[in-house]
Amino acid sequence: MLINGKTAVAGVIGWPVSHSKSPLLHNFWFREYGINGAYVAFPVAPGRFESAISGLVALGLKGANVTVPYKEAALEAADLVSDEAARIGAANTLVVLEDGRIEARNTDCFGFTENLRHGAPGWQPQRAPAVVLGAGGASRAVLVGLLDAGVPEIRLVNRSRDKADTLSKQLGVAGSGRIRVLDWEERSAALQDASLLANTTSLGMGGQPALDIDLEALPAGATVTDAVYTPLETPLLKAARHRGNVCVDGLGMLLYQAVSAFEAWFGVRPEVTPALRAHLLGADLPAARSA
Ligand code: ATR
Repeated sequence: MLINGKTAVAGVIGWPVSHSKSPLLHNFWFREYGINGAYVAFPVAPGRFESAISGLVALGLKGANVTVPYKEAALEAADLVSDEAARIGAANTLVVLEDGRIEARNTDCFGFTENLRHGAPGWQPQRAPAVVLGAGGASRAVLVGLLDAGVPEIRLVNRSRDKADTLSKQLGVAGSGRIRVLDWEERSAALQDASLLANTTSLGMGGQPALDIDLEALPAGATVTDAVYTPLETPLLKAARHRGNVCVDGLGMLLYQAVSAFEAWFGVRPEVTPALRAHLLGADLPAARSA
């Protein structure tokens, strides 16, 4: 890859950030599409986020991804906030606009639904309820994605029920029946008649306990997806595959969230291909979840 005076630059801001997979992804696409670009990790120490953001514009960068712990701060620092980012309450992508203003976006919900559309083309969001386990940051993006896809009822199950209640209120759908909060003990029964089960908890990630759930009530035609992608096939996905459910792993969510960021910065909508997946899987991925 030739780096010269015309190289367009973007990167990922976080603390710590050296574990990020995003440089692998975006630099793969530069090579694939012959774009003169570079994507690097920017470790930004606490207290320096604001000046880093000003630096994006001052240095003429195309933009940046934002990861822990700055996803919420990114909303405050931006000049404009997209509808999704405002509803999710966090941004994962900053785009430097032509006029120098910064727009905060959240592409995690697109990543989640696009991954499902590709991995489970038979899933019809409007047809049946979805069950979402977990009420953290990843869950917020998943919920917004599912609401926008027209899922009639989301059964939101979290160990700490109060967090799920707060989340459903914050999303402005409390009382509409679109999100029903259930107790953690109800997670297996909640699967009745559902067409989708999405795990957004950290259970099943390398080093964490497996998710303890009985899939008996889940219809055979339902799709199961997991935001955890290390391991790629979590114990949940393995159990679901054995009983014949369509399974969609979490790596795709990471790949598809990057698609819209790359397009916003470099004007090319990149494709998620088996070669890209192999490129990422060939790298030593630390234990992680999408979003
Ligand atoms: P993120 O922002 O990446 O989603 P998070 O906010 O730490 O991460 O959320 C982690 C999720 O995994 C939460 O829903 C958490 O449940 P609580 O809200 O009750 O903490 C869930 N989680 C983590 N460990 C769990 C466990 N042992 N059993 C059940 N849920 C667990």
